[in-house]
Amino acid sequence: MTFAPKSILVTGGAGFIGSNFIHSFISNNPYCNVTNLDSLTYAGNLKNLTALESNPCYRFVKGDIGDAPLVAGLLLEQKIDAVVHFAAESHVDRSITGPEIFVRTNVLGTQILLDESRKQWQSGTVGDFRFLQISTDEVYGSLGETGYFTEETPLAANSPYSASKAGADLLVRAYHETFGMPTLNTRCSNNYGPYHFPEKLIPLLIHNIINKKPLPVYGDGLNVRDWLHVRDHAVAIEVVLKRAAPGSVYNIGGNNEWKNIDIVNLVCDLLDSRLGRSTGENRRLITFVRDRPGHDRRYAIDASRLKRDLGWVPSYTFEQGIAETIDWYLANQEWVAEVTSGSYREYYEQQYGRGAA
Ligand code: NAD
Ligand code: TYD
Repeated sequence: MTFAPKSILVTGGAGFIGSNFIHSFISNNPYCNVTNLDSLTYAGNLKNLTALESNPCYRFVKGDIGDAPLVAGLLLEQKIDAVVHFAAESHVDRSITGPEIFVRTNVLGTQILLDESRKQWQSGTVGDFRFLQISTDEVYGSLGETGYFTEETPLAANSPYSASKAGADLLVRAYHETFGMPTLNTRCSNNYGPYHFPEKLIPLLIHNIINKKPLPVYGDGLNVRDWLHVRDHAVAIEVVLKRAAPGSVYNIGGNNEWKNIDIVNLVCDLLDSRLGRSTGENRRLITFVRDRPGHDRRYAIDASRLKRDLGWVPSYTFEQGIAETIDWYLANQEWVAEVTSGSYREYYEQQYGRGAA
């Protein structure tokens, strides 16, 4: 049985994964309406979506997922029959210096969104309905040298970020168990690709190498992450939205584990030739720094349920994906300069006017 949404609400669609998802979803579903609700924090950038501004099926609304009347109005007016919930504070390091906003957005914001979605679903005005929570493998905590996270792995979040995402995941589960609401939950590994804010490892490395700035490697550099191209993640989300049974949880991952230091060396080497620098020159920028407190050692996703039930497998090889990503950043240095300087906010004012929705 396939669910065919007619009008979806994407939250956090101006961020890294949300904007990639919107591009991918609209190109696969040209007649589905897409409303993007994003409060445009430092991580949200409307320039990720300029190509869609004249698309009659796409609509941007500036606002907070915690604003219940706004969310209720949108669900009603736009006849929303699916919510794809990306909006979050997403950076572990920021959650260590300031956890409160993580709880407010990721936990309370999700609860408000869930509650308004429940009313929309229970009203019966749009028929079939889905609420898809976009989550992370970090809710499972940290692995030793072997083993994988499955959907049955107990939640054991270690950072304020992952704890807030785990809280949201449990609320999503509770709305399904308690109210029978047709919720879905995906938990993906680390993403990389275009429009990634340069506070996260891969875009930070590229940005710093271009500018000959030190490359901070936390601790011994031997922590392991499992990397997936963001466009593969976007496709997996669409597959789950349309074909997964309500109440289900799916892990998403590319079976692509890398030690941080190996990623750092790889990005250095790929940029040596592209920047016309001598072999090994960029590696000299590597600087080992104090470890992140509570730094999870290893993440590795078992995504076999998604493959078995819904047939999803990633399409990018890491070799292709990382090379394309580096080339994208080289070709879009203006984008990086703007998001780091915040000048894209001026663009928003210009484009939409002060206070415009
Ligand atoms: P991001 O930080 O790039 O984007 C988050 C977006 O949410 C921004 O556009 C921001 O403006 C918006 N936002 C924040 N608070 C909001 C609020 N209160 N109301 C409305 N909008 C708000 O994040 P991302 O990397 O694109 O991650 C998106 C989602 O995917 C998150 O839920 C994250 O937990 C999850 N995830 C991320 C990764 C990853 O590798 N980046 C991996 C797995 C899962
Ligand atoms: P990050 O991109 O912040 O993602 P997450 O913490 O959600 O996995 O970090 C990826 C890995 O890279 C993580 O082990 C921390 C490490 N890291 C560094 O070594 N240096 C850095 O400057 C950053 C941002 C991350």
